[in-house]
Amino acid sequence: MWPLLLPTALLLLVSSDIGAGLQKAVVILDPEWVRVLEEDNVTLRCQGTYSPGDNSTKWFHNGSLISHQSANYFIGTARVNDSGEYKCQTALSMTSDPVKLEVHIGWLLLQTTQQPEFREGDTIRLNCHSWRNKRVHKVTYLQNGRGKKFFHENSEFRIPEATQKDSGSYFCRGMIGRNNKSSETLRITVGDPTTSPSVPPWHQITFCLLIGLLFAIDTVLYFSMQRGLRSSTAVYEEPKLHWSKEPQDK
Ligand SMILES: *[C@@H]1O[C@H](CO)[C@@H](O)[C@H](O)[C@H]1NC(C)=O
Ligand SMILES: *[C@@H]1O[C@H](CO)[C@@H](O)[C@H](O)[C@H]1NC(C)=O
Ligand SMILES: *[C@@H]1O[C@H](CO)[C@@H](O)[C@H](O)[C@H]1NC(C)=O
Repeated sequence: MWPLLLPTALLLLVSSDIGAGLQKAVVILDPEWVRVLEEDNVTLRCQGTYSPGDNSTKWFHNGSLISHQSANYFIGTARVNDSGEYKCQTALSMTSDPVKLEVHIGWLLLQTTQQPEFREGDTIRLNCHSWRNKRVHKVTYLQNGRGKKFFHENSEFRIPEATQKDSGSYFCRGMIGRNNKSSETLRITVGDPTTSPSVPPWHQITFCLLIGLLFAIDTVLYFSMQRGLRSSTAVYEEPKLHWSKEPQDK
């Protein structure tokens, strides 16, 4: 039986490793825009598993540990130097994936909810955001220089089910008081999800290959053991025949 135990033990080892890998903390932005203007308020929330004795959170900004230790990291009146990658970690979770925050200076900023690589089928959310939330009206969202959407009163522009045709260079413009203002352009790409959107998930590929291999080993072992059992029952039956024959011989 022990040859079967080895692959099973390996399998358990691999799956517990993957299990630990799943317990990654997550950084959530509130509001969810990854690009903000100076003086905006942003809260970064860390979602992770805490241990009963340790409810502190480690925050990393551009790779260095910062002194903040609670689950919510509030950036009031953001500054350009608050830009960069944020990661968090709790007692019972691994370090989160980085979330990139960009703090810009200007009157208008075209905001999105993720770094500008989208996949087909995603919803692209664009927001024409003004400095200190000043009132903006007659807002136009433009793609490659052409007007795509107009709002009398400022409003978010959503592109549901994005396709590759939605890739391009976007900006917004509108009136702040009597002034005609424009945002900088933002390049948005919508990738084909079938042609590897980013880095292939090597962890998962290795995992699947390992499972397949172990399954093959198990199957081979199972059949060879069955064959072994069948031949051993045959060996055991033979004496029975002898035994039943013996009285006849006598
Ligand atoms: C940030 O929060 C403070 C305090 O609530 C508020 O006065 C300020 O207007 C907020 N900033 C922006 C850009 O909304
Ligand atoms: C950003 O710069 C300001 C001074 O302009 C400083 O007070 C603040 O600590 C800096 N923040 C970071 C995250 O470096
Ligand atoms: C703002 O200026 C552009 C040209 O720079 C013009 O095409 C557009 O109509 C103006 N917008 C408004 C709301 O007046």
